[in-house]
Amino acid sequence: MKIFEEKLPEYNVIGTEEIDQALKVLKQGQLSGFIATAGNSHLGGKHVRKLEELFCNKFNSKFSASFNSATSALHAALISCGLNKNDEVLVPTMSMSASATSVLMAGGKPVFVDIESDYFCIDTNKIYQSITKKTKGIITVNLFGMPSDLKKIRKICDEFNLFMIEDNAQAPAAKYEKQFTGTFGDISVYSLNRHKTIQCGEGGIATTNEKQLIHKLRLVRNHSEAVYDGLTSEEKSLGGENIIGYNYRLTCLQAAVAIPQIKKLDRLNEKRVVLASELNKKLLDIDFLESPKVRENTSHVYYLYPMIFNPTKAKISKEKFLKNMLKEGAPISEYAPPIYTMSLFKKCIQGLNIAKKFPVTEFLSKHLLVTSICRPPLTKKHIDKFYKAILKSSRE
Ligand SMILES: Cc1ncc(COP(=O)(O)O)c(C=O)c1O
Repeated sequence: MKIFEEKLPEYNVIGTEEIDQALKVLKQGQLSGFIATAGNSHLGGKHVRKLEELFCNKFNSKFSASFNSATSALHAALISCGLNKNDEVLVPTMSMSASATSVLMAGGKPVFVDIESDYFCIDTNKIYQSITKKTKGIITVNLFGMPSDLKKIRKICDEFNLFMIEDNAQAPAAKYEKQFTGTFGDISVYSLNRHKTIQCGEGGIATTNEKQLIHKLRLVRNHSEAVYDGLTSEEKSLGGENIIGYNYRLTCLQAAVAIPQIKKLDRLNEKRVVLASELNKKLLDIDFLESPKVRENTSHVYYLYPMIFNPTKAKISKEKFLKNMLKEGAPISEYAPPIYTMSLFKKCIQGLNIAKKFPVTEFLSKHLLVTSICRPPLTKKHIDKFYKAILKSSRE
C-alpha cells in the first residue's frame, strides 16, 4: 500500500477575510483603479495602494509598487535601475528562469555566476571574477527561502557601483542578521503567485527606499509614455522621459485578496520552520540525504526544503529513489534545471558566458532534490510519513 494513500491537502491561505474583501470589490464593481494618464489614477485604486502601504510597513521600506507578477516587477526594476542594451547583470545559475529572462527582457545580458554548495545562493567569492566594465548590477535570489549573503553582496555592489536587486520571491520575511531579506537591495521583488506563501493567484511587489526608483517603477508599470508629459516639473525631474511603459498593473480584486494575508505571513512561515525542523531531525537517521544548512545569523523560511542526495552512501540511484518516492505519493522532485542549460540560453542567445564551468551547479543539478512537505496545512504526521517513504524508497 502507498504510504501517502490520500491526496495531500492543498495549500490554501484564502479564508473568510480574503473572500469578504474580494466580494466587496466585486459588489462595488471597480475591479481596477488604474488609468494611464498623469494624476491620481496613474497609481491605481484604493486596494492596490493599501497593499503597497502594508508591504512598506511590514518590510520597513519607504516605497512599494504592486505588479501583476514578480517577473514584471523584475523587468521594471532593471529598467528603473537604468539598464541599457548589452549591459551585464550577474545572476545565479540556479533559480526560477525569470530571474535571468528579466535581464533579457530589459535588453541586458545575464552573466551567470555559480552558487554556494551549502546555501544554493549566488557565490560571493565567484562574483569578483565575473565583474567586467560592462557589469551594471547583480540580481541575487534568496532561493528556497534561504537568505543569500546579503551584506557581502551589498558591499560588493557599493564597492563597484553596481545596482543590487533582491529576487525575494521565495523568501518573504526571512531574516539576515535580524533584518528582513528584501531590505538590502536597491529594489527587492516579491511574488504573489499561487505557489507562494502569500498569494493572490498572480501578482508581484517591488520595494525600494529611493524616490527616483519608485517613480520609475510606477512609470514602467503603467504606460509611462502616455503619462510622462502630464507630470509636474518636480516629478519630471526624477526622470523617466525615455521609459517605455507596460501594462503591469495589479487589479484591486487581487490586491483585496492579498491584503489580509500580510498579517498571516509570520505565522505561515513559523509553521514551515517547525515542520522543517521535524524533517531535519528525521534526516539525522538517513545518511544518504543531507538536510539544508542555514547560514549563520539568518533564518530560512522553507518555501521549499532542499536535500542533497549522496550516491556513494545510498544503496540505490537517485533516479530510482525519486521514482520510488513518487510511487509512495511523496511530494518530492528535482528542482528546475540550471537556467543556462535551457535551450533559450544555450541555443538562442549569443554571447553568454555559458561555456564557462559551474561546478557546484553541475553537481547540484545531479544530486539536489526538493520537497514541499514543510508547508501548512501539513503536520508532523505528514513528516513521519515522508520519513517512512524515504526508508521504504531507499531499497531497490
Ligand atoms: C525566485 C523566483 N523569481 C521569480 C519568480 C517569478 O514570479 P512570478 O510567477 O510572480 O512572475 C519566481 C516564481 O516562481 C521565483 O520563484
